[in-house]
Amino acid sequence: STGRHRDHMGNEIDEQPVVARRVLEALAPGIVDGSLWRGLGLPSLDTIDRVTVVGCGTSLHAGRALAGVFARLGGLPTRTLVASEAAHEVWEPRTLVIAMSQSGETADVLRALDALPPRHGTVLALTNNPSSTLARRSDAVIDCLAGPEVGVAATKTFVAQVLTGVCVALSGLSVFDRTDSARLGADLRALAATPDGLAAALDAWRGPCAQLATEYARASGFLFLGRGAGLVYAAEGALKLKELSYRWAEAYPAGELKHGPLALVDAGTPVFVVDNGDPRLDVDIAEVTARGGRVIRFGERVLTVGGVPLHLPRTGPSWGPLETVVPLQLFARELALRLHRDVDKPRNLAKSVTVS
Ligand code: F6R
Repeated sequence: STGRHRDHMGNEIDEQPVVARRVLEALAPGIVDGSLWRGLGLPSLDTIDRVTVVGCGTSLHAGRALAGVFARLGGLPTRTLVASEAAHEVWEPRTLVIAMSQSGETADVLRALDALPPRHGTVLALTNNPSSTLARRSDAVIDCLAGPEVGVAATKTFVAQVLTGVCVALSGLSVFDRTDSARLGADLRALAATPDGLAAALDAWRGPCAQLATEYARASGFLFLGRGAGLVYAAEGALKLKELSYRWAEAYPAGELKHGPLALVDAGTPVFVVDNGDPRLDVDIAEVTARGGRVIRFGERVLTVGGVPLHLPRTGPSWGPLETVVPLQLFARELALRLHRDVDKPRNLAKSVTVS
């Protein structure tokens, strides 16, 4: 890709507002009238009792954000499965299976589909490669329209998968009347605001993330915390940090701190908090700061850099504060550059993992 950075990853992070706009232009018109859902040949939600999302790595995280829409907005029982563990699950009929894979060639995901019993229900593939093996093996396919992603670490495909999945979910839930109109309206407004929100996050955080990376270049480990819909972005931030910087990073539901990970926190431990507006996060943060931990907070009330407080709008849609993934990606890349890592080709990893 072309852009201002020498590495693909930097350019792919920057491309996210454009990708988001492309997805919404293509899919948003089919939400309220249900034509997106029906056009994919998906069954009536009256015949579906639950949604199960399968995937690996970043695609699994995108799947968790999407599952939140079916659960929080639609009240449907949902689960998200690590694809390599799917064979150990009990499958029930009347399940909508959503298989998430950017490449569409991930062996663990293909094997998860092999583990499905007969008459399990419909499989929808959500992929950046509609001519992939996964697409051929599924009942329905949707292209997440991210365009080619060269960096091994998934960035723009994550945002594209979340938004594509959200559009499909909203389309089904609205046409089968599974949501109250006020909540649906709020989600639709939040969806439309996402491209600008991603652009604003890029502008607001580019500088601060570079500063933070310099400040924490010698930290040996990082904690990422979130609650509810914010948790999946904390998990994605920790994954990006691990794979790019080769530093230890753990994501936890903030409520779990006191059940173990708080022992890791001492003077100077960096703790990244994804703030989705849950007031209990204030208590979690106090636990960290009382032990000298350094809290870096992403959300409405955010950190002060060089004495200047920065603000991102709090986002409360049913898929959570998607925009917070931007500073987490930026930070992971900046830290990796300071540690002289190859941000496009992290060691030991491949873009498409075709062994299981
Ligand atoms: C993380 C990353 C991996 C992939 C995972 C699934 O940045 O790139 O965790 O997300 O290997 O790959 P796909 O989406 O091709 O199935």
